[in-house]
Amino acid sequence: MYVCICNAITDQEIEQAIADGHLTASAVYSACGVAPQCGTCSEEITEMIEGKIAAHFETVSGNQFAVA
Ligand code: FES
Repeated sequence: MYVCICNAITDQEIEQAIADGHLTASAVYSACGVAPQCGTCSEEITEMIEGKIAAHFETVSGNQFAVA
């Protein structure tokens, strides 16, 4: 599924960039070799990053931390 229509970036490409340690939207754009155009997708990319971080802490802590 395309997350960034302007640059034709898929959710899989973004997930790979996040897995490679790119933990800001701008870092994800750079990892994908593009620059943001309209910026509409940046919020969704940020939510994907936050979701991965939250999932990591839940896994590490055994759900001991509350995730906002
Ligand atoms: S949808 Fe990603 S920059 Fe426009």
